Amino acid sequence: MRTVRSFVLRSGRLTKLQERALHAYESTYGIPFSPEGSETLNEFLASKPSVMEIGFGMGEATLAIARRNPDVHYLGVEVFPSGVGNLLNEIEQAGISNIRIIRHDAVEVISRMIPRGTLTGVHIFFPDPWPKKKHHKRRLIQKPFIASLLPLLEPGGYIYCVTDWEPYALHIREVLESFEELTSTDAYPWRPVTKFEQKGLAKDHTVTEIMVRMQ
Ligand SMILES: C[S@@+](CC[C@H](N)C(=O)[O-])C[C@H]1O[C@@H](n2cnc3c(N)ncnc32)[C@H](O)[C@@H]1O
Repeated sequence: MRTVRSFVLRSGRLTKLQERALHAYESTYGIPFSPEGSETLNEFLASKPSVMEIGFGMGEATLAIARRNPDVHYLGVEVFPSGVGNLLNEIEQAGISNIRIIRHDAVEVISRMIPRGTLTGVHIFFPDPWPKKKHHKRRLIQKPFIASLLPLLEPGGYIYCVTDWEPYALHIREVLESFEELTSTDAYPWRPVTKFEQKGLAKDHTVTEIMVRMQ
């Protein structure tokens, strides 16, 4: 059993809209976590090239990227109910059909639900930096996590991480470079500025983009 998680669930209240979206649309665009896996998820991943986004926050990057790439399926994984409610509402308003959401710890989703070789890419935008040394163990991007992610990628599949915390950027590079099957590649062609990124930019943080590909 893993005891250290990469998130602390915030107790912030849901807006009425987010709450309504969770009730009304999660059964349509959400896939329940199941340790035994899910046929619905397997079909979603098998029917188009598929990208998983971990920790999508409010989901603005997920939505914008999915709109630009209608022939790609996007699986967003997030634990934060307000963010899930927000993205569900946006999906419904935009009338787009290529996003599904799992509201659960991505570490468990990866180990229990995603079939091997089914992901074209993984997006991790502004993972919680956990800047204090005593909290470094909470950082999502660690060697065992990447080791569990690699078998899920197709040959040539990519991992794309962005952070505004320079010590975390160094750590992410070091972790990714330790896998000889991964090679550094050009950054992803386009993504919108995310909510969390805006806060970092306002504090003059430098944003680092890191993208690697399976050989
Ligand atoms: C710093 S925020 C960034 C959100 C968004 N990507 C952005 O750029 O605005 C990190 C997000 O990752 C989510 N998160 C952290 N660990 C997670 C995990 N193990 N599984 C799913 N979501 C996670 C948090 O709930 C949070 O919303």
